[in-house]
Amino acid sequence: MVLSTGYSKVKTAVFISGTGSNLKSLIKFSKNNKSPITIELIFSNNAKAKGLNYSKIYNIKKKVLNFRNKNLSENKLLSILKINNIEMICLAGFMKILSKNFIKRFKGKILNIHPSLLPKYKGLNTHERALNNKEKYSGCTVHFVNSQLDSGKIILQKKIKISKNETITSLAKKILVQEHKLYPKAIIKVFNL
Ligand code: GAR
Repeated sequence: MVLSTGYSKVKTAVFISGTGSNLKSLIKFSKNNKSPITIELIFSNNAKAKGLNYSKIYNIKKKVLNFRNKNLSENKLLSILKINNIEMICLAGFMKILSKNFIKRFKGKILNIHPSLLPKYKGLNTHERALNNKEKYSGCTVHFVNSQLDSGKIILQKKIKISKNETITSLAKKILVQEHKLYPKAIIKVFNL
């Protein structure tokens, strides 16, 4: 796999927009011997993202750029990533769509987690749409990022059963628990591909 750099761990940035519970689980994983990555940078488009607090807690560098001017922000971000020798990016609840140009610069080295069984329910409001369609199952997917929304090659998926009285909130909660387990597993898989 292209990501492997021999004996040293791969320097990774995690991009978030909100709570950062996946970020937290990735940080914990990265401290494990088995982890092929270290998390060197937390990036957010949202200065108020709760997940930015993990920067202080775990002593990890953080950067915020508001993405109002996407082109400008992405160019600044690319140079920040370069300065920090970042080799891989994990999107974890990052709610901005990266441009083709940005993705090209990290080709095959950006992963994303999405709360549905892709290719079903790409984009937003996944749980609401799954429930409205009376799906029996839902889940989460870790995939490589390409230039189309939630469409890159799937690395791993976890399927869960939707209960009778499931609500958007209960389903989101149930899936999030699985996301925290799936993302680390998917990272290990990527390095063994
Ligand atoms: C997660 O459920 C993640 O899969 C989803 O946002 C949530 C972030 O939670 N991502 C997307 O919907 C991306 N399209 P977190 O901030 O607690 O990790």
